[in-house]
Amino acid sequence: MHKTIIEPFRIKMVEPIYMSTPDQRKQHLENAKYNPFLLHSDQVIIDLLTDSGTSAMSANQWAGIMRGDESYAGAKSWERFQQTIIDITGFTHILPTHQGRAAERILYTHLGGPEKVFISNTHFDTTRANIEYTHALALDCPADGNIHDNENQYFKGNIDLHAVEGYIRHYGPERIAAVILTVTNNSGGGQPVSMANARALAHMCQQYGVLMVLDCCRIAENAYFIKHFEEGYSHKTYREIAQEMFSLADAAVMSAKKDALVNMGGFLAMNNDNLARECTNVLIITEGYATYGGLSGRDMEAIAIGFEEVFREDYLNYRIKSTTYVGEKLHELGVPLIRPIGGHAVYIDAKAFYPLIPTHEYPGQRLACDLYLFGGIRSCEIGSVMFGKYDNAGKLIPARQELVRLAIPRRVYTQSHMDYVIETFAMLMELRNQRRGFSIAYEPPLLRHFTAHFVPLG
Ligand code: F0G
Repeated sequence: MHKTIIEPFRIKMVEPIYMSTPDQRKQHLENAKYNPFLLHSDQVIIDLLTDSGTSAMSANQWAGIMRGDESYAGAKSWERFQQTIIDITGFTHILPTHQGRAAERILYTHLGGPEKVFISNTHFDTTRANIEYTHALALDCPADGNIHDNENQYFKGNIDLHAVEGYIRHYGPERIAAVILTVTNNSGGGQPVSMANARALAHMCQQYGVLMVLDCCRIAENAYFIKHFEEGYSHKTYREIAQEMFSLADAAVMSAKKDALVNMGGFLAMNNDNLARECTNVLIITEGYATYGGLSGRDMEAIAIGFEEVFREDYLNYRIKSTTYVGEKLHELGVPLIRPIGGHAVYIDAKAFYPLIPTHEYPGQRLACDLYLFGGIRSCEIGSVMFGKYDNAGKLIPARQELVRLAIPRRVYTQSHMDYVIETFAMLMELRNQRRGFSIAYEPPLLRHFTAHFVPLG
């Protein structure tokens, strides 16, 4: 057996990367007000901002795109899309949407409202925003200890069942709109959820008559961890593991931009006929007719093919091993990060990386900016810029953690690109005690990380 894990694909088409010098990047970053979201993509050498919608599609998916049937109603591409999703998820009603948050908006607007409560292992930001927009409450219940560096503790994405039950009893089951299990737990460090945890949650939801929703956008990656690290699953295929997890839930929302290996798309799936009818009405008003939602026929073809490809053994093996490779190499350098490494991203603990930068000077923003200045690498702050709030006196209430996410696009970068990222971190390690943070010069009232402007302090 070889030790080297190679990319299980050959490259058929290439896209240029525009190289830049540190001086050019200094200027670009100043122009972007020190917010990497405001950079132009051709100013970036390696883009690890997100794994969402950034996958490279296969030759087979591109061939499917040419086959796309663009009929308004009952298109062949819709039938293939629907059948694939039924085969994998087991749900009877499939609603196509243009991306994950559209599925979230349709379902959570219907279930939400001022008196309602949603519970999750951790609400992703669009999930929380869609829920709070209806004036419902979104409560996070991550299992204990999910932030620490502990290489032996798998399934740190689990939901805290005890806390969930406490909330259900406190608010009463009739006020609980849904319990949302996000696999893998993106905002909680990209960590997987075990089948045992999902099963126990399903049992609890049944017992109280509460709806269980699976946010399944990285369910194939989650299945990898179950097969290799949870007892009793080593003989099952990744697809079978995902099917088992789907069978536990009452509904699923999916951003196909992740584990369906496409650049755009999503769906909402469920069994309940009445709920499906209500959601379909909203779908038709806001997304499109029931057999295309917000998608063209070619998009649905690409999703149908990608959602099958993602469960292939050689693909998932390469995918998770390559993310782990980056994380473990950074760990060897002494970079503080969340371990074990999750599926789609490596999460750096920026507060520990820059011990002298206080939280209110945003150490995560410093790290994201330094990765760009020194390597042209774009990453994403997931800390107090993204989740910080202010108290009545205008003082920052910091986020739970100051993280920087290196999200790895699927099938896009090679190992040498990743070695370059690791080398950039080695350069930054030398400067850890010399850097200062930022103050915020401009911020919008909601989702400020996308458009805020920063000023470097010293
Ligand atoms: N749920 C989770 C767990 C997500 O990670 C995302 C998107 C969504 C829902 C929303 O899906 O973007 O298709 O509307 N996550 C991206 C990210 C944006 O970078 O993690 P969408």
